[in-house]
Amino acid sequence: MSHAYPIYPSVLAFDFARLAEQVAAVEAAGAAGLHFDLMDYQFVPNLTFGPMVLQALRPHTALPFAAHLMVYHPEAQIEALARAGANRLYLHPESTPHIHRVLGQVRDAGLEAGVSINPGTPISILEPILGLVDGVLLMSVNPGFGGQSFIPASIGRVAEVCRLMAQLDVSPSLAVDGGVGYDTIGPLAAAGMTAAVVGTALFHEHDPAGTLRRLQGLAAG
Ligand code: DX5
Ligand code: ZN
Repeated sequence: MSHAYPIYPSVLAFDFARLAEQVAAVEAAGAAGLHFDLMDYQFVPNLTFGPMVLQALRPHTALPFAAHLMVYHPEAQIEALARAGANRLYLHPESTPHIHRVLGQVRDAGLEAGVSINPGTPISILEPILGLVDGVLLMSVNPGFGGQSFIPASIGRVAEVCRLMAQLDVSPSLAVDGGVGYDTIGPLAAAGMTAAVVGTALFHEHDPAGTLRRLQGLAAG
């Protein structure tokens, strides 16, 4: 399925009593990897899980794990996430005064370094760090919860990130996170999104495998 458009199901939308089963289902359906939302009740108004959930699922799938750290003091979790089997970490510059240093710490731990920004954060914050990252995760909702409505201005922001990448002559992946589904994945991909995080929309029709393939088709245009 290497030709298929890369979709990262968000584990936040899974049934936590059946995690391994649902991971196997999305892997069989052609997911590119899994997206894990770590929240701390401080940086965002919700609490989820830490490295233990990645560690528990690691033996059950070959899919790459991307951890999205919606937490203050993200540096405190890097080593544990590396040990738990994470492949890529997305960190928010809004969560630390030292984003440049912490991205270096992620690389030093042998992981891919990614940066994520909130809908209210100017794209220009990426300029000094875009050359240091493997991926950008653009938030299209205010982070904290699954199932929120997509913020339409995000499509223009995707194009803006693409223009900045072209100016700097760098090409990290560009994923969008929040409210991505049937109506939004096509326009986002057309604007320059190269991968999608999908949570709630994957389970709307109680057929995650079929939905994932339909989303891949819509993203491919
Ligand atoms: C939101 C999280 C998302 C969330 C997306 O704070 O970062 O990854 O799971 O879920 P949906 O696709 O339901 O908006
Ligand atoms: Zn996320």
